[in-house]
Amino acid sequence: MSELQEQLRGAIEGRSPLVYIYSPEEERIVRNIRQLAAELENRPVHTWSAVQGIDGANDDTTDPVVALQEIIRRPVDGIVILNDIAPFMDNPRVIRALREAYQDARIHYQRTIFMICAELSIPESMKKEVQLLEVPTPSPDEIAVQVHDYITAHPQYHVPEDAVPQLIMALKGLTENEISYVLNRACRIENPETDQLMDEVFAEKKNVVKKSGFLEFSPPRWDIKGLGGLDNLKDWLIKRRHMFTQESVDAGVPIPKGLLMMGISGCGKSLAVKTISSLWNIPMFRLDMNLVFSGMYGSPEEAFHRALKTIESVAPAVLWIDEIENALGLDDSGQRISSHIFSSFLTWMQEKPPLIFIAATANKITALPAEFLRKGRFDEVFFCDLPSKEERESILRIHLQRNGANPDDFDFKMLQIMTDGWNGAEIEQAILAARTDAYYEKRPFNQRDLTNVMGRIVPLSETMEEQIKAIRKWAFSRATPASKFGRTAVHH
Ligand SMILES: Nc1ncnc2c1ncn2[C@@H]1O[C@H](COP(=O)(O)OP(=O)(O)O)[C@@H](O)[C@H]1O
Ligand SMILES: [Mg+2]
Repeated sequence: MSELQEQLRGAIEGRSPLVYIYSPEEERIVRNIRQLAAELENRPVHTWSAVQGIDGANDDTTDPVVALQEIIRRPVDGIVILNDIAPFMDNPRVIRALREAYQDARIHYQRTIFMICAELSIPESMKKEVQLLEVPTPSPDEIAVQVHDYITAHPQYHVPEDAVPQLIMALKGLTENEISYVLNRACRIENPETDQLMDEVFAEKKNVVKKSGFLEFSPPRWDIKGLGGLDNLKDWLIKRRHMFTQESVDAGVPIPKGLLMMGISGCGKSLAVKTISSLWNIPMFRLDMNLVFSGMYGSPEEAFHRALKTIESVAPAVLWIDEIENALGLDDSGQRISSHIFSSFLTWMQEKPPLIFIAATANKITALPAEFLRKGRFDEVFFCDLPSKEERESILRIHLQRNGANPDDFDFKMLQIMTDGWNGAEIEQAILAARTDAYYEKRPFNQRDLTNVMGRIVPLSETMEEQIKAIRKWAFSRATPASKFGRTAVHH
């Protein structure tokens, strides 16, 4: 028996006459109710809608009040499904008819009335009588059945056998209809590779999340090879790349929960987060807290709650929160502007489903309260310092190549010295400026252009020496260096 059937069975056997099923998946629920009813001594099932009326009724029962009266009049046990009755619930006569049906069923019969609605609107005055069932999207077991049925029905599509477990897990969070839509689209690719199938699934998840508003899909476009230095951090990410799989879940391997990267700005924290999606092959969504706080989606607390629910529904996924100190309503000194959001986030981190990975970055680290960094919240807290000379060379190479230059034509000894104290963003800027200068003269850029530009740039670290010292001191005891050349102590 599937999870959904267990839920429905609980409602029937609990004998609550009125059950409100909050779900957009009418077909799936009706089918499951019918299957269950057949198993439960063949209980009759009747359906009603405002267009069809009660199935099999002789009279016109499209009016919900008439329909409910008809239901009360028939002295039978069984199950009645009311489809989309929610919009009628602002009518006092409908409320009254529901209450009478409730009382009638309580006294006389074994009858369950299921109301299936895609929106949640139970009138205040009915809350005591109505039992609410929130039905999640299909469980992995149900998805497995659907995928296998699909593959059996379509032998002409060559879905690779080893892609199936990953596919099943990736499809979690989609409705049954969305899943068949994705399967139809994905499987038409001739001899699809696992990655192509995943891309289709990601695309569909992106659509689901887009409807919610404040979660932004971050495309799996960033290769970890484009991140220079930060070897400790990269090793950490690479070691965990196969952990978000059904096998790991089944094997009981601890699934990574989250990562916090803090440190000096322009050193690749946001870039590092962006690489996770393609490295781990799971979709990533950035939570736009400005939109949450904007009031466009109701109160910030409500909007935040909804964002977390949405991300839960599309797990496995990475939730990216950039500059979390601003995001969680903390001001510079760590005072909470919105304590409610902060504490509900901490609670959620403890209780969230396992297949959501939180990737957070922070620049103003002194704004982070100690309880946030407490062991167990994040699997690891990394500190990104200014790049070492070796790291500056790899960053230089990456951006030279990206800008069409041949790194072998450059003198790295010299460039390493010139970029002492620079962050990655400044190195990138210098290369872009050199390229622009040379482009103006219609020629490729060279060492000379680069050193000219570098002579003019004043790195942030020169003007912010004191702040950087303070950041390092703070990070020394609290974080693991992201770089293998890190100067800070390891305490994790
Ligand atoms: N370690 C690095 N390797 C490659 N590029 C880097 C690195 N650090 C910074 N950059 C460049 O600078 C840009 C800005 O860096 P970003 O990741 O936004 O820094 P942060 O989030 O730490 O402030 C990046 O998009 C990238 O182009
Ligand atoms: Mg950033």
